[in-house]
Amino acid sequence: MVQNLANSKLKERREKILRRYPPKRDSLLYILHDLQDLNPQNYLTSEDVKAVSEYLGISVGEVESVISFYSMFSRKPRGRYVIRFCSSPTCHLLEGPRVLEELKKLLGIEVGQTTGDGLFTLEMTSCLGACGVAPAMMINDEIYGNLTPFKVKEIIESYRKKGK
Ligand code: FES
Repeated sequence: MVQNLANSKLKERREKILRRYPPKRDSLLYILHDLQDLNPQNYLTSEDVKAVSEYLGISVGEVESVISFYSMFSRKPRGRYVIRFCSSPTCHLLEGPRVLEELKKLLGIEVGQTTGDGLFTLEMTSCLGACGVAPAMMINDEIYGNLTPFKVKEIIESYRKKGK
């Protein structure tokens, strides 16, 4: 009963997102982005994929291939906050690896893993376009630069305070 209620609420929210955009293929990335944000586990479900495919009149296979092309999308559950740490040359040369080690220690996980409380997933990414403030990382849609082991600790603590 409770599960049914949650499912129908989710369906309602999903439809609201779809209706925000014209039913054209150009809307695909925007819709996927919003649907993923809607999910506290930061991923796109099979129901999402099916609903998008029907709304835009494109095949499920096409939606899946777009999802797999962009690293910001996931088909598997992730943490509430997805940390994408830059591994490109500028960040790498400016102490990125040292900051990354601190981050892994703070979170108690390796790259590609999610913390036990479901709060954080740690991923690597190529250049975030923030080389001027290297080393840099992104948490969901927010970019953080000029990272140091100390700064990263403060950032993680602020997200832990926010919780889910
Ligand atoms: S190299 Fe890291 S943001 Fe560009």
